[in-house]
Amino acid sequence: MIGYAMCGSFCTHKRSLQTLKQLVAAGEDVIPIVSEIAAATDTRFGQADQLIESLRTITGRSPITTIVDAEPLGPHSPLDALIIAPCTGNTLAKIASGITDTVVCMAAKAHMRTSRPLLIALATNDAMSANLSNIAVLLQKKNVFFVPLLQDDPENKPHSLVADFALLPDALQAMKNGKQLRPLFRTL
Ligand SMILES: Cc1cc2nc3c(=O)[nH]c(=O)nc-3n(C[C@H](O)[C@H](O)[C@H](O)COP(=O)(O)O)c2cc1C
Repeated sequence: MIGYAMCGSFCTHKRSLQTLKQLVAAGEDVIPIVSEIAAATDTRFGQADQLIESLRTITGRSPITTIVDAEPLGPHSPLDALIIAPCTGNTLAKIASGITDTVVCMAAKAHMRTSRPLLIALATNDAMSANLSNIAVLLQKKNVFFVPLLQDDPENKPHSLVADFALLPDALQAMKNGKQLRPLFRTL
């Protein structure tokens, strides 16, 4: 059983859902988890209700949307792995700093207590500015892995990095073997 958490990087939700479908088609049993913001915010990229419904349809389960429901994902009901895809700069910074005030951070904290692997598909335009130090903090943790990152728009978004979602299944497989998929930084 793996957890699949989605944060409020709304422009990457479509790619994330496509990747999730691939994982389920490949036989993964998935518990979906959605951040409070992603579960409640309609944007030009999609409707919150539609996101919840898509996750229910793809995984066959109702998404976890509260801290109370995420808390047991530790020693009580352990996951084999947790994926955060997309992971916002906000959630990355909180996990790196030990802050647990959202459902996704709670899931990550509960999961990390079990020393089981966490895979992060980051998507944030401050990856190479405010959040660079947080990437470094998490890269050094034994059980934290990253989906390889693309510099998606160096001209217009010079500090942005976005996970290459097409590589998420390979990164998950590598993580299951205890390895970080490399190269970590890729070109478009
Ligand atoms: C339309 C829209 C797109 C956004 N895209 C991103 C993004 O790609 N990456 C990111 O880190 N934050 C993005 N944000 C900001 C996050 O949604 C915001 O930081 C939020 O507090 C994240 O909460 P979460 O980490 O609990 O999901 C976006 C916000 C909006 C309204």
